[in-house]
Amino acid sequence: MKSLCLSGVQPTNFLHVGNYIGALKQWVEIQHRFPCYFCIVDLHAITVAQDPKQLRENVLNTAATYLAVGIDPKRSHVFIQSEVHEHAELGWILGTITRIAELERMTQFKDKAKRRADNVGVGLFTYPALMAADILLYDTTVVPVGEDQMQHVELTRTIARRFNTTFGDTFVIPQALIQKQGARIMGLDDPSVKMSKSATSTMNYIALTDDDDTIRKKIMRAVTDSGKDIVYDPDKKPAVTNLLTIFHHMTGRTIKDLENEFEGKGYGDLKKALADAVIAHVGPIRDKIAEYRKDPKELMRVLDAGRDAAQELATTKMKIVRERVGLGRA
Ligand code: TYM
Repeated sequence: MKSLCLSGVQPTNFLHVGNYIGALKQWVEIQHRFPCYFCIVDLHAITVAQDPKQLRENVLNTAATYLAVGIDPKRSHVFIQSEVHEHAELGWILGTITRIAELERMTQFKDKAKRRADNVGVGLFTYPALMAADILLYDTTVVPVGEDQMQHVELTRTIARRFNTTFGDTFVIPQALIQKQGARIMGLDDPSVKMSKSATSTMNYIALTDDDDTIRKKIMRAVTDSGKDIVYDPDKKPAVTNLLTIFHHMTGRTIKDLENEFEGKGYGDLKKALADAVIAHVGPIRDKIAEYRKDPKELMRVLDAGRDAAQELATTKMKIVRERVGLGRA
C-alpha cells in the first residue's frame, strides 16, 4: 500500500503555537517522506457562524501560514476543501452510515455545543463525517494531528471499516500521527485547558502573527505552578511542563537538557529564555506570512495547482464510491 499523508486546519482565525507544534511542524517533516495533501477546511469552518469576507481572508492567511512554516509546494499539495466538491459529496454519503450515538460521543462537538447552546447547527454535529470524507477520499494512510483530533480519526477508521464491510473494500484505514511531546499544548493563562483559537482571553495563546513584544508579554505573564523547581511533570507541574514542551519544540533541545540548564534557576529565568526562543522561531514565520500575503499571485498559483492535484485523486475515488453505493446511472 502506498503511503499518503493528509491533514487540515480550519481557517477560523490566525494559527497559534499549539496548531504549529501539534500539527504543522509534523507536516513539514513528513513531506520529505510521503506525498502530502494539506487542505484548508473552509466547509468545516462554517459549522460555526463566519463573516464571509473575513472567512476568505482567513483562507488566504492559512495558506500563507502553511507556506511560511515550510510546507514546500513543490512537494506538497495545498488546497481549499470547498474547491474540490467531492469532499461535500462523500461527507454526505458517509453521514448516512454514521450513527447518531457515535457523533454524540465526540468531545469537540460536546464542547462547542455547550458554548453555543442556543445555536447548534446540524453541520456542527455531522462535522466528523465530513472530516472522514477529507481523509478517505485520498486513500490517506497517515493523518498528522494534535491529540484533540484523535477521536475524529478513530471515528473515521470505524466509518471506513463499516463502508468496506457493507459495500466492498473501498477505503484505506488511516492512522493518526501525534507528537510524543506537544500533542496538546495548553493555554498560557490556564494550563488545564488547551491552547485554542477560540479562547476568550488573548493571553491564552501565542499567534504565529504576534509581534515580538506581544510574545514576550504573554510568556512573562504565563501562569506558573507552586514551588520553584523547573521540571517536566505533567501531573504536578502542568504549567512548567507546558513551557518546557514549547521550549523543546522551538529550539530542538531535549527536555532533559533544558531541565539541567534551569536547575536552581527561577521561573523568571525560564520565561525570559523561552520568550527569546519563541521570538527567534516565530518571528521569521510571521514575516514570511506577511510576505506571502503581499504577493497573492504566488498563493493563487499554489492553491490552483493543489486543487488540480487533489481533484484528480478525488474524481477517481468518487467514481468508485458512486458505483459501489449504486448512485446515478451506470
Ligand atoms: P483545528 O483547525 O482545530 O486545528 C488544526 C490542527 O492543530 C491541532 N491543534 C493542537 N495541537 C496541539 N495543541 C493544541 N492546543 C492544539 N490546538 C489545535 C489540531 O489537533 C489539528 O491537528 N477537525 C480539524 C480539521 C480537519 C482535519 C481534517 C484534520 C478537518 N478535516 C482532516 C486532519 C484531517 C480541526 O478542527 O483542526
